Amino acid sequence: MSSVSEAAIVLYQQGVEASEEEKALANELNLKLLANSEGFANNEELASAADCYLQIKPCGLCLIVKDGNSFTSTHVDFADAKLNYRVQDKGKTQNIAKAVGLKGSVLPSVLDATAGLGKDAYLLASMGCELAMLERSPIVYKLLVDGIERAAKESQTIRQRIARMHLRNDDFLQSEGVMDKYDVVYLDPMFPVRSKSAKVKKEMFALQKLLGSDDESLDWLGKARTLAKKRIVVKRAKLSSFLGGEKPDIQFKGSSSRYDVYLVT
Ligand SMILES: C[S@@+](CC[C@H](N)C(=O)[O-])C[C@H]1O[C@@H](n2cnc3c(N)ncnc32)[C@H](O)[C@@H]1O
Repeated sequence: MSSVSEAAIVLYQQGVEASEEEKALANELNLKLLANSEGFANNEELASAADCYLQIKPCGLCLIVKDGNSFTSTHVDFADAKLNYRVQDKGKTQNIAKAVGLKGSVLPSVLDATAGLGKDAYLLASMGCELAMLERSPIVYKLLVDGIERAAKESQTIRQRIARMHLRNDDFLQSEGVMDKYDVVYLDPMFPVRSKSAKVKKEMFALQKLLGSDDESLDWLGKARTLAKKRIVVKRAKLSSFLGGEKPDIQFKGSSSRYDVYLVT
């Protein structure tokens, strides 16, 4: 069973009325509106109200989560220097590119069934892939839409990459309607990481706090097989077991994660 929590609150600045944008956001996501005050982290009343908050800041829509006694703030930023550095030179030599079968001018179409904060999709789009992206959580979807909208003001290169990313707020496992088939179905759900020493990046920590973890025992591979023309790629933590106990046909291992590839015949 999935342990989705999504207990978030939309914050607005104390002393001024919530903006129309903040009200609309709270209304759309059916979240409470709460006044923020100076020194958010020191405000015990506020800090004990929830573990996750949304706040519209100058940098964009932010997800703020409690991390012990402090808070971390995450937003989607496709202009991020580190992210764009990853795609500059070494793009196609990365494991994710090899896993989806990018080679020379071969550009597979990809269904990113668990879009999250869109980093993997952005990497693949920057290498030229067209992607359909599904994100089940309305809050994560909203963070992603916000990032995509802000990217429209960035350089032409970034805009061209974003134009290849087609996002929907939908549940991959539940979607019954007619869906196109894609060369590759890419899966990166929030599976629990069992190794205590596994390092969790800030963004993934925030998503884990917001969403909990996904259920590995569901038929992820079965559903993916109905939509994949060539292969299914599953991103796993380095030491995780195989999804559904099924041995992949190919593996690409990195320092903290690996890609298990299931060929569709
Ligand atoms: C680990 S994150 C994905 C990270 C992403 N690969 C990235 O680069 O940012 C997993 C995401 O999958 C979403 N998700 C989980 N189950 C889903 C489903 N059945 N359909 C669509 N999205 C799902 C979660 O809401 C979460 O945002």
